[in-house]
Amino acid sequence: MSARRTYRWPQPLDGQRQRLWYGGDYNPEQWPEEIWDDDIRLMNKARVNLVSLGIFSWAKIETSDGVYDFGWLDRIVDKLGRAGIAVDMASATASPPMWLTQAHPEVLWRDERGNICWPGARQHWRATSPIFRKYALRLCRKMAEHYKDNPYVVSWHVGNEYGCHNRFDYSDDAMRAFQEWCKARYGTIEAVNDAWGTTFWAQRMNDFSEIIPPRYIGEGNFMNPGKLLDFKRFSSDALKDFFMAERDALAQITPGKPLTTNFMVSAVGSNLDYDDWSDEVDFVSNDHYFTPGEAHLDELAYSASLVDGLSRKRPWFLMENSTAAVNWRSINYRKEPGQTVRDALAHVAMGADAICYFQWRQSRAGAEKFHSAMVPHAGENSQIFRDVCELGEDLQRLSDAGLEGTELKKSSVAVVFDYQSEWATEHSANPTQNVRHLTEPLDWFRAFADLGITADMVPMRGDWDSYEAAVLPCVYLLSQTDSQRVRDYVSNGGKLFVTYYTGISDERDHIWLGGYPGSIQDVVGVRSEEFTPMGDDFPGALDHLDLSNGAVAHDLADWITSTAPDAKVLETYQADPRTGMNGVPAIVVNPFGSGQCVYIGGKLGRDGLRISLPKVLDDMGIRHSSAADVGQVLRVERSGEDGQHDFVFYFNRGSGDVTVRFDGEVVVSSLAQYAETGDTACISPNGLIIVKG
Ligand code: GAL
Repeated sequence: MSARRTYRWPQPLDGQRQRLWYGGDYNPEQWPEEIWDDDIRLMNKARVNLVSLGIFSWAKIETSDGVYDFGWLDRIVDKLGRAGIAVDMASATASPPMWLTQAHPEVLWRDERGNICWPGARQHWRATSPIFRKYALRLCRKMAEHYKDNPYVVSWHVGNEYGCHNRFDYSDDAMRAFQEWCKARYGTIEAVNDAWGTTFWAQRMNDFSEIIPPRYIGEGNFMNPGKLLDFKRFSSDALKDFFMAERDALAQITPGKPLTTNFMVSAVGSNLDYDDWSDEVDFVSNDHYFTPGEAHLDELAYSASLVDGLSRKRPWFLMENSTAAVNWRSINYRKEPGQTVRDALAHVAMGADAICYFQWRQSRAGAEKFHSAMVPHAGENSQIFRDVCELGEDLQRLSDAGLEGTELKKSSVAVVFDYQSEWATEHSANPTQNVRHLTEPLDWFRAFADLGITADMVPMRGDWDSYEAAVLPCVYLLSQTDSQRVRDYVSNGGKLFVTYYTGISDERDHIWLGGYPGSIQDVVGVRSEEFTPMGDDFPGALDHLDLSNGAVAHDLADWITSTAPDAKVLETYQADPRTGMNGVPAIVVNPFGSGQCVYIGGKLGRDGLRISLPKVLDDMGIRHSSAADVGQVLRVERSGEDGQHDFVFYFNRGSGDVTVRFDGEVVVSSLAQYAETGDTACISPNGLIIVKG
C-alpha cells in the first residue's frame, strides 16, 4: 500500500484572501475572443474566483505534431488573472487530436470483441499504449514549462475523469500490461491459476503469455469471476499508472503547484478504485451529477460523504456539477427552484471547499449543447444566472464567516463502502442479479438519515473501526486480514451491523466454507446454509418475506439454520411453511468480546431498515431520534480544529415545510424564513439554513 501524498490545496492569488473556490470548466476556445471580456464581467458579477482551462484543448494547443499555439491560452489566462480569477490548468491530454490518431491508430482502445474505438467523441486512447504515453507526457512537460512561472495558475487538473469512456481496453497493449500486472501481483503462473480457480472448465495456463484480457466469450456464457475481478483491478491500476506518469511529468517542472484529477463518485457505480487513487492526488476532487427524483438530496449527500471519506476528512474540491439539466440521460430533467443553490451547499456541508460546474458558458454546438451551464443559452437575464450569482454571494458569506478549512464532523456511525465488493458482486453468475454491494450502503445512509443520524460513508481501507458503530453492507469480499479487523473491532467494544451477502468470499473470490458468512461466523453468531433469492418471474414465486416487526425483505434472504449460544434472535420471518423460511431468524444480535454484532439476514431496503433499526439502536445504546419529523431534516456539522467555527447545516429532505430549532447566527439561508432574533426557522422543500454556532 502506498503512502498518501501530502495534502496540498490551491492557494489564493497574490494579494487575495483565502476563500472557498467558485467557478467551473471554462472553454473560451469555443467562442470568439470578443466574448471573453463579457465572460469576465459576468464571472466577476457572480464572484467566480477560479476556472479550469484547457481540459479538451489538445488540438488547439498542439495543432500538429510538435507545433504549439499557446497564444490564445496565454491571452485568456492573463485576462482572467488580472481580473482576480485563478486558473486550474488542465494537462490538456484528455482527448487526443485527429492528427495523432491518424498517424498512430494503435493508440485507440479496443472493445471486448476487438473492435476499434474510433475518434468522434473523446477519450479514445488506451492507457497502456507506449506511443500515446510518449505524446501525452510530452504535452504535460510542454504545459508545465509554459506555465511554471505563471502566478495565475494555482493547480493542475490532470486528464479528466479517467476511465469514463476508456475504462476497459482489450487491445494487445492491454494484454501485455495485464500479464505484467499478474506477474507483479502473483509471482508465478501457478498462483494465478490458483487465484482464478482455472482447474474449473479447463482454463489452466502454463505461462503468463497465456493470459489474455476477458475478451468476448459469446452470449450467455460466464467469464471466470476471479479473472474478471482482477481485470477490473488491473484497469483501475493501468489508468492510475498513466495518471501518475502525467502527474509526475507536471510535478517535476512545477513542484509548487498542487495537482488533482476529477473522480466520478456517485451511487451509480465505480469505474475506478477511488480510495486507492486518493493516495495519489494532492487534494481529492469529484464530479457529481444529480439523480432526479425523491432520492436527489440523499444520493448527493451520500456521494459527497463518501468523497469526504476518500479525502480522510480534509476539505475537497467539487470539480463539476450542473446548474440544471444534464444532456446524457434519456430524459434530462431540470432542477426544481432552489435546487441549484441547495445542491452546491449540500456538497459544502459534506466538506467541499470548492464548488465548480461543468461548464461556464453553455455551448452552441457540439455534443453538450443541451447541457446546462452557469451562463445558459438564455444569457445573463435568466434564473440560472441569478442562482449562480446568489450562490456566489452565499459562498462569499461562508468564507467571511470562516468556513474554509473546517472539517465535516465525525459521525457516530460509519457505513463502509468497498470498491472490490462492488466489482465482485457485478458478476453475472450470482444468486440474483438484484443484489450488489452498490445499492445497500445508500439504503443504510438513508435509513439512518430517517432516524436523525447523518452517517459517514467510509471506504473499507479507511478508519471505520474507530467509530462507535459501523455497518458492513453487502461487503461480499472479506480477506483474512479484513476479517480479523472486523473481529478485533467488535471484540474491542465496537458495535457492528453486518448484512446478508457479507464475508462470502476472500479477495480472490474464493468462497469461505462452512456456512455463510464463512469468514466472520463467530462474530455475527449466525450460520446460513443457503441463499433464498426472491423474484416474481413465475406464478407463485416467493417475491418477499415478512418479518415479525412488519419490515419486508425482497430479493435475497439468508436461510439461517443456527445461531450462536449467546445470540438473541430479534426478528424472524413469517412465511408459508412450504418456503422453509417460516420462523427463520432475520435479525440477530450477538455479543462478541466487549462488543456486539447485529446481523441483518435479508435485503430490507431503506423502509425495512427504518422500521427495524430503532429497536436495534436502542439495544446497542446508539443515540437516535424517533421524533415524528426528524427524518425531514438532514443535519450536518462542520467544525474547526480548535472546536471553534462550528457550522450547522439544516436541509429540508422532504416535500413539505419543516421547522427547525437552532442555536447561533444564520449565515446563509435559501427558501427559509426565520426572525432575526429567533431560534427557529421554517424551511421549505429544497431549502436550507446554515448556522454559525
Ligand atoms: C463529465 C465531463 C465533462 C462533461 C460533463 C457533462 O463527465 O467531465 O466534460 O462532459 O460530464 O455532464
